[in-house]
Amino acid sequence: MTAPPSIRVCPVTPVLRDAVLGLHVQPEQDGFVSPPARTLPDAEQCPDSEPMAILLGDAVIGYYRIERSARSLTGRDADADALGLRSFQLDARWQGRGLGAIAMEALLADLAQRHPQARRMLLTVNCANTAALALYLRHGFIDSDELYHGGRSGPQHLLWRALP
Ligand SMILES: CC(C)(COP(=O)(O)OP(=O)(O)OC[C@H]1O[C@@H](n2cnc3c(N)ncnc32)[C@H](O)[C@@H]1OP(=O)(O)O)[C@@H](O)C(=O)NCCC(=O)NCCS
Repeated sequence: MTAPPSIRVCPVTPVLRDAVLGLHVQPEQDGFVSPPARTLPDAEQCPDSEPMAILLGDAVIGYYRIERSARSLTGRDADADALGLRSFQLDARWQGRGLGAIAMEALLADLAQRHPQARRMLLTVNCANTAALALYLRHGFIDSDELYHGGRSGPQHLLWRALP
């Protein structure tokens, strides 16, 4: 039996930065997620945002941001104690191979180490983004049945997940 690919996640360090800035999704996915080239500089300036790299071996294949307070996603005080997940993405060359699912498992394991006190995580996902929605639901996220209209490309589902 072949071993699963060795995927790990870690903060974006100066050594990884250029590779992260070079990540691109498929053109038709541009409405679903902003590229690191647009959001990483902002995340690096924000003390409540943790820019993270997804690595396969030594290759940077993806990116996401953990927001220390999901209030920055929803604008609601009731979400202040939850973490927020933003910009979860794999480079176009690495999509469609099941790596997104393995990356999500690595992300969750990393959160348990890095944020052991966190009990909940929130994210928004475009209603037309079937691949991402399938991945999130498969990994324990629950659709809140609330639509978020703050996205730049149409309505988004608001999903949440309990953290152990
Ligand atoms: C979302 C993303 C990370 C998924 O990574 P991936 O490695 O391509 O996905 P996987 O191969 O692990 O598949 C994940 C699930 O989506 C399903 N899927 C993949 N492509 C799909 C498609 N075009 N339509 C419907 N479902 C699809 C897979 O069957 C799988 O479902 P399963 O776990 O129930 O079998 C990747 O597509 C991506 O980077 N997309 C662009 C950025 C983005 O939209 N991010 C989400 C922001 S909220």
